[in-house]
Amino acid sequence: MKIVLITGIDKGIGKALAEKFLEQGYFVIGTVFEDTDLSNDNLITYNLDLASGESISNCVEGINKSGKKIDILINNAGVLLDKEETSVVIDKLRKTLEINLIGTIDFTEQILSLINKEGHIINISSAASSLGRPYADSRCPANYPSYRISKTALNMYTKTLAFRLNGEIIISSINPGWVKTDMGGQEAELTSKESAKNIFDFAISKPETGQFWSDGKKYIW
Ligand SMILES: NC(=O)c1ccc[n+]([C@@H]2O[C@H](COP(=O)([O-])OP(=O)(O)OC[C@H]3O[C@@H](n4cnc5c(N)ncnc54)[C@H](OP(=O)(O)O)[C@@H]3O)[C@@H](O)[C@H]2O)c1
Repeated sequence: MKIVLITGIDKGIGKALAEKFLEQGYFVIGTVFEDTDLSNDNLITYNLDLASGESISNCVEGINKSGKKIDILINNAGVLLDKEETSVVIDKLRKTLEINLIGTIDFTEQILSLINKEGHIINISSAASSLGRPYADSRCPANYPSYRISKTALNMYTKTLAFRLNGEIIISSINPGWVKTDMGGQEAELTSKESAKNIFDFAISKPETGQFWSDGKKYIW
């Protein structure tokens, strides 16, 4: 049975991903910040606060003790703390980087030895991270600078890790689209189920490592 590790499965895209992988016969290791109402014989959960180094180490230790090796890691958990701001608010920048970037990298580096060769690591990024597309348009207002900075930097981690691992494990950044979740809001285009299906299809494909993807196509960094 193939094994997927997904961070942040208590709601939103992460929850829909956990449900999709379970439905497709995967064993799911999920992390939750507090609790989850998901339960399944093929699911185990561990607590994880990406803002805490201690929590990250404890979570990795728990997964390690389970003896399970991972085929796919999806770094899904993240925060959008400056949805209404157009200027950087330093406290929010620190917290955002701590969770979306540093905690995510720390977790990935610590879990790396448990990921099978030919596995796939997916960093959930965002269209708002892109340096190459217009900064703002009708679908993406000129807001959330700290969030953007965190995801742009996460994309560079994708590149860095892909270069280091040289194809041994595939590393991807992916834009999940604009999704109806607490983060995306109810006016968004996709349901979390639709986004999870797209991410699932992409996760089980064997894409070129070190790239940024959206709708199954390469996206502009
Ligand atoms: N929704 C969109 O339109 C959209 C667009 C582009 C990219 N994304 C990205 O997609 C991913 C999922 O977003 P979503 O829309 O599903 O957001 P969401 O509904 O707000 O869910 C975020 C998840 O991250 C977890 N989380 C928050 N802080 C955490 C921490 N300190 N440590 C560990 N887990 C933490 C949350 O746990 P709690 O519930 O316990 O806080 C929750 O499970 C994120 O990386 C986001 O940036 C979303």
